[in-house]
Amino acid sequence: MGSKLHVRDIKSGPPLHYKDDVRAYSKEYAHSLDEQDSLQHFRDDFIIPSKKDLKRKTLAVTEEENSSDPRCIYLCGNSLGLQPQNARKYIDRYLRTWAIKGVTGHFVPHEDQLLPPFVDVDSAGSQLMAPVVGASPSEVAVMGTLTANIHFLLASFYRPTKEKYKIIMEGKAFPSDHYAVESQIKHHNFDPKEAMVLIEPKDPDTPILTTDQIMKVIDQHASSAVLVLLPSIQFYTGQYFEMKKITEHAHSRGLLIGWDCAHSVGNVDMKLHDWEVDFAAWCNYKYMNGGPGVIAGLFVHEKHGRVELEKVNDNEGFRPRLAGWWGGDKQTRFLMENKFVPQPGAAGYQVSNPSVLDLNAVMASLEIFNRTSMAELRKKSLHLTGYLEHLLLKYPLDASPEDKPFSIITPSNPEERGAQLSLRLQEGLLDRVLEVLEEHGVVVDERKPDVIRVAPAPLYNTYSEVREFCEIFLQACREAVKAKKS
Ligand SMILES: Cc1ncc(COP(=O)(O)O)c(C=O)c1O
Repeated sequence: MGSKLHVRDIKSGPPLHYKDDVRAYSKEYAHSLDEQDSLQHFRDDFIIPSKKDLKRKTLAVTEEENSSDPRCIYLCGNSLGLQPQNARKYIDRYLRTWAIKGVTGHFVPHEDQLLPPFVDVDSAGSQLMAPVVGASPSEVAVMGTLTANIHFLLASFYRPTKEKYKIIMEGKAFPSDHYAVESQIKHHNFDPKEAMVLIEPKDPDTPILTTDQIMKVIDQHASSAVLVLLPSIQFYTGQYFEMKKITEHAHSRGLLIGWDCAHSVGNVDMKLHDWEVDFAAWCNYKYMNGGPGVIAGLFVHEKHGRVELEKVNDNEGFRPRLAGWWGGDKQTRFLMENKFVPQPGAAGYQVSNPSVLDLNAVMASLEIFNRTSMAELRKKSLHLTGYLEHLLLKYPLDASPEDKPFSIITPSNPEERGAQLSLRLQEGLLDRVLEVLEEHGVVVDERKPDVIRVAPAPLYNTYSEVREFCEIFLQACREAVKAKKS
């Protein structure tokens, strides 16, 4: 183990890919991949809990806390991203502004401000959020929460008639999306049994929906459906749908299409504008690292956000929506005239004044994203998750099938997935596997009865962590099988 291995040092020919190198499972190999990772320094922008932190019973900062304590292996950015180091700085500035200015903090700039006065923080949010989702700033609003935003968007885009009233979505949608659609349909006095078209996986053991299957369902219901609502990345399987192709197909059949981007924002490089997506919504607490339940985001394509001022007085000239004062024109907002003139674009979908505290948390993270690009992050992510998959399937080289009592339900084609791999364990192993992972300071999440989701985030996870995870996971599997037999 002594000599230092560097993949690029290998004399003959171009650098080896981990798939071609039998040493891929060694600590040295993983370390050499980290050394070559041009995004590795971003890890220092995050607070990685130590293994001791995870076991702490109190929040008090204690003297024995040490930055050299081993860090946990955090592979759960698909659920809740880690805290950026600079979140405290942003939130401190916000508290200070509020403390020294009170209400005038809405309008008074400061020489050393990180963000504009409270009243303009939402526009600053759109500026930094837009490149993350492939949109222009006017198409993005940092606002609300995910499910509430889906409701706001459906209120605007789902305008059923007797002939066209159906919404097409997946049968295994995240429950909140299911409830939102169901309640919107009821709200319009339609029957969800008829109006909700649920696309079900053909094989429950491989719950993947093919693009062909989705397009066929769209064809089948085109004459009676208004819109399609799908997740860009499916929360359970990690499948990344062909957003561009499906969007084009829905449009070719005269349907609108919206995407729930909870699991794709900050994860894959979407092009919401170029793909002509009609609308989208997401949360900012997963790969976006904004903190639990933090303010979310939505996208409205520019073609839907236009405002024709000359028609506004007749309540026309803009797409109908559930309105509130913060969506109104900034120039006239404080005139209190009760005449709703929406701001053009996604900003016109805002309802309330946003939580500036929340926006600061999100901006702290967006500052980091804006120091790189989603294309760069995606490049690393493909490699990192590919490495995870490769090690899980191929190593150790002498492993027998019994040593691997799991299957990967996420598509094996890297283009059809983001950072996450969903591992389905054989029956009765989940609890013990989770116990062993926890004992070793590994954080992943579970979806009962038998799936764990493992998501290396390219901003802060390393190849070495992925390697170590595989070692611990395989040990956990062995122990779980043994415990089941005894
Ligand atoms: C795909 C998806 N949709 C909707 C939600 C609900 O999010 P919220 O509670 O922020 O509305 C989640 C939460 O994890 C999710 O993963």
